[in-house]
Amino acid sequence: MLQDPIIADRQPAAWADYLVPQEWAHFTAENHGVWDTLFARQVPYLGNRIVAPFLAGIPALGLDRPGIPDLDRLNAALTPATGWTLVPVAGIVPDQEFFAMLSDRAFPIGNFIRAADSLDYLKEPDCFHDIFGHVPMLAHPPVAALMEALGRLGVAAIAAGHGELIARLYWHTVEFGLVREGDEVKILGAGLASSFGEAHFALEAEVPRPRFTLADAAATAYRNDVFQPLYFVSDSLESTAEALEALDLDGLIALSA
Ligand SMILES: [Fe+2]
Repeated sequence: MLQDPIIADRQPAAWADYLVPQEWAHFTAENHGVWDTLFARQVPYLGNRIVAPFLAGIPALGLDRPGIPDLDRLNAALTPATGWTLVPVAGIVPDQEFFAMLSDRAFPIGNFIRAADSLDYLKEPDCFHDIFGHVPMLAHPPVAALMEALGRLGVAAIAAGHGELIARLYWHTVEFGLVREGDEVKILGAGLASSFGEAHFALEAEVPRPRFTLADAAATAYRNDVFQPLYFVSDSLESTAEALEALDLDGLIALSA
């Protein structure tokens, strides 16, 4: 029997095993209230302390509507804009599959939200972090391209036994990085954008804020259990995106030499 060559060649993505339904209709009024409380606290605090593309992404994607966003509705706005698709997951995705998702322009979104009595404690990233923190930037074409590039490099780095290097570059930029915009240092990373306490800490506390370089960031460990001991400041979003997109596996490995 003849097979359609396109369908016969199409393999399910290796990361598909991590997908679960979002089951948006199952979120309770309390769940939606947690989102609204976090959103109402975070947006006024961030004000113009965060990079302009983030602020533009919120209304562009309809993220300013009340309640936890329905991923289908969000994808209807995001996918035509930059080719990214938000995919629901039940919790942390291992690094190998996480970077494979990014390389396919798929971004994992936890299908749960923190409890109302622990707004500032996260055992693992929930949908407020994943959506509010990351998704506005995925609507910005240069970041959309950067995230895919990080995914491809991450897959190659992990296969070559250098996963820690790409994890550090990811962490010190799109997760917990700061960036210069005009004369000001602003929030870039999703971990800061979505955290009331750490956004303030990163900008205001007496904590080192060294200039971002690929070599320094690749050499610097990070914490995923407490606030960061330092925050790298990129010269500009464009320059850091260009530097990361130009990096190949050999270049990444050379950073650790
Ligand atoms: Fe994140």
